[in-house]
Amino acid sequence: MDDQNRTDRRNFLRAGAIGSAAIGAMAFTGRAVASTPTIGDIAILQFLCAAEQIETDLWEQYAEMGEQNPAYRDALQDALDVDIVIYAADTRDDELSHDKFIAAYLRSIGVTPVDLTPFKVIPSPNVIGGGGRLRLTNLTQLTLDTSYYTRYHNGLNPDFDNDIPQLATITAQSAIPTKQIEGKRDLIGMAGVSGLHFAAIEQGGSSLYNTLLRQISSVEVLEIVSSIYATEAIHFAIFNKVLEQYPGFNNGNGTLVIPDLTDRRQNSAHVMATPTQFLRADLPLCSVIRPGTPKNSGTVASATGLVKSGLFTGQSQTFLDAVVSFAKAADAATRPF
Ligand SMILES: [Fe+2]
Ligand SMILES: [Fe+2]
Repeated sequence: MDDQNRTDRRNFLRAGAIGSAAIGAMAFTGRAVASTPTIGDIAILQFLCAAEQIETDLWEQYAEMGEQNPAYRDALQDALDVDIVIYAADTRDDELSHDKFIAAYLRSIGVTPVDLTPFKVIPSPNVIGGGGRLRLTNLTQLTLDTSYYTRYHNGLNPDFDNDIPQLATITAQSAIPTKQIEGKRDLIGMAGVSGLHFAAIEQGGSSLYNTLLRQISSVEVLEIVSSIYATEAIHFAIFNKVLEQYPGFNNGNGTLVIPDLTDRRQNSAHVMATPTQFLRADLPLCSVIRPGTPKNSGTVASATGLVKSGLFTGQSQTFLDAVVSFAKAADAATRPF
């Protein structure tokens, strides 16, 4: 590691501490409490700033591969939707806007935002559309939790300890081409991993933002988090819908098995968020984003889920430790009234 890198990482790790100090100082300036972000609010925004950089990085990879690699693009369009690459590029632009906005807001209140740029160390596959560019995230060894599909289609909620089955088995699979020439059939498998990952990321983002709403104190921070939250849910709805066209795939060795999802459309399975138990068991079912509790979808739970998915395979321990520490600081935030 060169000196510049070391300095960048130190600055990154200190960002949270500097932020806390700045806010501590602000508390004595006499500004209205309701609009002054608390230390907990800052911790939440720092975590979201990091999360949005992670989202931007992975969507950038999907958009670039979809735009530049004709074989991958064809497979995505055949197996998911003719407009899927446009959706991926639009989502990348949205995530980038989230990242830039949160970072600018933090700077506007005297806080140095988290900057993950020094951790762009994972080379993309050296194929057309990947080009060996250095990334934060790794899309080539994904192990996906696909229970969100069953949860939303079948009216289940992890917050009520429902036992929620997986839709598919995806163990250490690549969502993008890793060789210059991939077989057509293998590309359909990759398109399935991509499609299920698209929706997985955005339902996770929706649940995370939803959960954080109840921990925020400042009205202004509440406005930021609630407004971005809604766009994450829009993303999820679109990527949930495109899965309806997926024809199914089985690689024959049990590590990639995705059922034919066109079947479910024919059987009129719900594409909207099916009503589920919510808040209390004695209340009627309600169509809501789920889960929505710190235990299942707070910052620590979300960061743990991303690590388990293999998204950071090849990242340094420093990176993982930093993400966990930001997640813990944000998880501890509570509304003081
Ligand atoms: Fe986002
Ligand atoms: Fe997102």
